[in-house]
Amino acid sequence: MFSTDEAIKSTSEFVKNATVNASQFEEIFENAGSASLKYWQNLAETKILWKKSFTNVRVWNPPFVEWFKDGLLNASTQCLDKHLGTQTENKIALVWHGEPAFENGESLERRVFTFGELHAEVAKFAQGLLNLGLIKGDVAAIYMPLIPESIVAMLACARIGVTHSVVFGGFSADALKDRINDANAKIIITANGGYRRGKILNLIVSAIQAAASCESVKNIISVDRAGTTGQSWYQKNDSVSVEAQEFVKSAVPFHWYHNVLSSKLAEPADVSSEHPLFILYTSGTTGKPKGVVHSTAGYMLWAQTSFEWVFDHKKTDIFWCTADIGWVTGHTYVVYGPLAAGATAVIYEGAPDFPNYSRIWQIIEREKVSIFYTAPTAIRSFMKQGDSFPASKNLSSLRLLGSVGEPINPEAWRWYHKVIGNQQCPIVDTWWQTETGGIMISALPVLHAQKPGCAMRPLPGIQADVVADDGTPVQNGQSGKLVIKEPWPSQLRTVHGDPERYKSVYWSSFSSKIDSSPWYFAGDGAYKDADGCIWITGRVDDVMNVAGHRIGTMELESALVGNIHVAEAAVVGIPDEVKGTSIFAFVSLKSEFKSKIANGEGKMEMSKLLKDHVSREIGSFAKPEQIRFTDVLPKTRSGKIMRRLLRDIASGKSAVGDTTTLEDMSALVSLADYREE
Ligand code: WT7
Repeated sequence: MFSTDEAIKSTSEFVKNATVNASQFEEIFENAGSASLKYWQNLAETKILWKKSFTNVRVWNPPFVEWFKDGLLNASTQCLDKHLGTQTENKIALVWHGEPAFENGESLERRVFTFGELHAEVAKFAQGLLNLGLIKGDVAAIYMPLIPESIVAMLACARIGVTHSVVFGGFSADALKDRINDANAKIIITANGGYRRGKILNLIVSAIQAAASCESVKNIISVDRAGTTGQSWYQKNDSVSVEAQEFVKSAVPFHWYHNVLSSKLAEPADVSSEHPLFILYTSGTTGKPKGVVHSTAGYMLWAQTSFEWVFDHKKTDIFWCTADIGWVTGHTYVVYGPLAAGATAVIYEGAPDFPNYSRIWQIIEREKVSIFYTAPTAIRSFMKQGDSFPASKNLSSLRLLGSVGEPINPEAWRWYHKVIGNQQCPIVDTWWQTETGGIMISALPVLHAQKPGCAMRPLPGIQADVVADDGTPVQNGQSGKLVIKEPWPSQLRTVHGDPERYKSVYWSSFSSKIDSSPWYFAGDGAYKDADGCIWITGRVDDVMNVAGHRIGTMELESALVGNIHVAEAAVVGIPDEVKGTSIFAFVSLKSEFKSKIANGEGKMEMSKLLKDHVSREIGSFAKPEQIRFTDVLPKTRSGKIMRRLLRDIASGKSAVGDTTTLEDMSALVSLADYREE
């Protein structure tokens, strides 16, 4: 499985032209040493345009850290103003393709912003937000499709010191409401549409429904994506509750984005290094998502630096990261990293298979994309469609490929390398997390031959290691848990409103034997191969990774149990060829409802009802693939659900995996093998 024999060297062409060459990288590694503060100081002095320089590189009060103390800066300056008056000002910052397409598959809508134009739009919208009364320190919720205005909204918040909380457009009104309430957001910025597989997702409907139970929300802004300006959005939508309509009419001022834009350009606010740039909610092992808080200076430093290094960035590159801005990959490698580096970024609103599986390759051909960064799930689903789709387009502009979000299986890696990269493009398999802010482990293609399926090595200054349960580093050739032994600038600072959770989830599992300072535990297992390279083996906690999206089993279980019919629920992830993991739920109904599932039809109906319930509570991407009804759930004597048994049953590994025996799970509890997890 972890083959060290196959290591593919980058082409000599790539190596010859590398922006930072091998010996320069070796020097960087040497300077980084064991995360020497001097290294971080130099990096921060070189990469960031400071309004006022910092006085202290790092203050480490384990597990709380502050970087570049007393410094003043602004993230939107770092992305935009910095480039004004340079050649970059007139360079294209963003190329956007909307989803709607002509019959031949070409995009119907394409919009382009230079850095100068983006700067003006951001500054105007920022002024508009100020006019609505937002002030530094407030939180804004952004619930939008992938359109240029979403990026404008993020940067406009950053410009006036408002912390943004982007909520992925696939989340339901309920999930949005919880996130707004947790962050105490003052405003929702949304859109009256967003195209996905030809359908319009009317995000504003969910936004209004959420706002109806969020006291903190004082204004709602909507981009007119669907072209219904002038009509009341709710006249078009019978699905919105009367209460929500009344609420909006009476309580929350509603504004169209284009009316909020001011003619005046807002100046960037000076914020301190540690000022929270954003909160991003992510799933953990409890039912409640965590608001991961990121800083301004440390985050921006690593967003830019890791982008430049890992992707070997050149001025001429056209970079396309396919992530949505609702996830951290979108924050760091669609917005902040590329813009700070002065790169041209491609963004695409819709589904990769709309109107057919050529769409992605068509956009690459059209825009001459040189660096393409996507998720293994996408790669596997393209692979499944065969080579004819990519073969029909000219992909020769590509020079580097990236993968992120889940382990990539060697077979998909090789396909990506051969069919998409024509064996000319190195592949960076980048390991990181919402919490790490930027890439932690990756090949640097000028230095490292790449092994299919292997994330390779920590970047300069990142003290990642694989350790045994007692904290000793594993030998080469062994597996253990992935930890990071020193703080780094782009790490999360806390869990919003819950510093105790920050401490216990991330910093309480392992610590240094020398000075007992805590280590960051990532929740992932890993294997160190004979050469010391790191292979990520996946989550070791109750968190699933479904199609590159992180979903907590507990979160799903509490959603299911929240349905009136359900007595108990247990959710497990099982291997899936395309999505990596698919969701399998075991559900036992309250006895008064058991008659409803007396026959196949009843089971189907109940199953649909529960899937819809999960869509409503969380979002349709979190819907279980399969639901199986059972009388009782197998538990250990201490009452813990026997997940390993359930996983085996769900994936058909266990001999007891047929439906008939499942009707009475109590019989299974006697299986000694499964008694302790
Ligand atoms: C989890 C973090 C970081 C961007 C997207 C996901 C898994 C991430 C890799 C990789 C194997 C990976 C880990 C990690 N993961 N990248 N290259 N190889 N696994 O962010 O939602 O915070 O999820 O994604 O399990 O813990 P996220």
